[in-house]
Amino acid sequence: MSAQVTTRRLTQADLAKLYLAGEKIVMFTCYDASFARLLDGAGIETMLIGDSLGNVIQGHDTTLPVTVSDIAYHTAAVKRGSDHAFIIADMPFGSYQESPEQAYRNAVTLMAAGAQMVKLEGGSEMAATVEFMVHRGIPVCGHLGLTPQSVHVLGGYKVQGKGEAAAQRLKEDALALQKAGATMIVLEAIPAGLATEVTAQLDIITIGIGAGKETSGQVLVLHDAFDIPPGKKAKFVRNFMAGASSIHDAACRAVAAIKDGSYPGPEHTYAG
Ligand code: KIV
Repeated sequence: MSAQVTTRRLTQADLAKLYLAGEKIVMFTCYDASFARLLDGAGIETMLIGDSLGNVIQGHDTTLPVTVSDIAYHTAAVKRGSDHAFIIADMPFGSYQESPEQAYRNAVTLMAAGAQMVKLEGGSEMAATVEFMVHRGIPVCGHLGLTPQSVHVLGGYKVQGKGEAAAQRLKEDALALQKAGATMIVLEAIPAGLATEVTAQLDIITIGIGAGKETSGQVLVLHDAFDIPPGKKAKFVRNFMAGASSIHDAACRAVAAIKDGSYPGPEHTYAG
């Protein structure tokens, strides 16, 4: 089953089927109805209303200024523009770290705007919050590795999980999120070998960005994939507009490259 042949919106169960069948899951970030329509037409299975909108839509240097209402506004637009893709909304900085109750309240706003799942950054320290939300009807996606909301703690946008201790911590964080009930984890900017190990140790979907090709799927930031400014493009970015006849064609090429495993290539991955 793939998004191209479904006539309804995909569910978590549909994504689980793709995962169990070993088919790579394709996720794009998306922020508006026009691109949602275009990505839907290219068979993209999941759209993430990422807090990267702080950078690519609002022009900030970090994702920190993004609010719950910003994400809710863009989630509603993406929902209106798409009929098929599974919709995930990012929980912005400061909207979930205080307490499980705070996280739940803000996640409710995002689900009411049209999200089918919310994503939050962090590992073991967020496990109780994830459990609280999942038990109350909110599917959760974790996010490990380079977590942009912690840019000031990390000291910049740097590859994470390097070295034995850091790799071990990340593996434990992934297991803690799974145990708490998360059904998907984004792995950002970590060595490919570590992402492979994390993916192998879990029974849930991993979605990589700068994490090699062995994750259960890939997420592309729309502005990266279509070579839209602003921002310096990271090592893991491929410009799918190169050689494409249209944005639709570029989106179809991205889907094909992820599905057949030709993206990401060795030149897009980090060593341990
Ligand atoms: O906000 C975002 O776009 C993200 C992706 C990079 C995974 O979190």
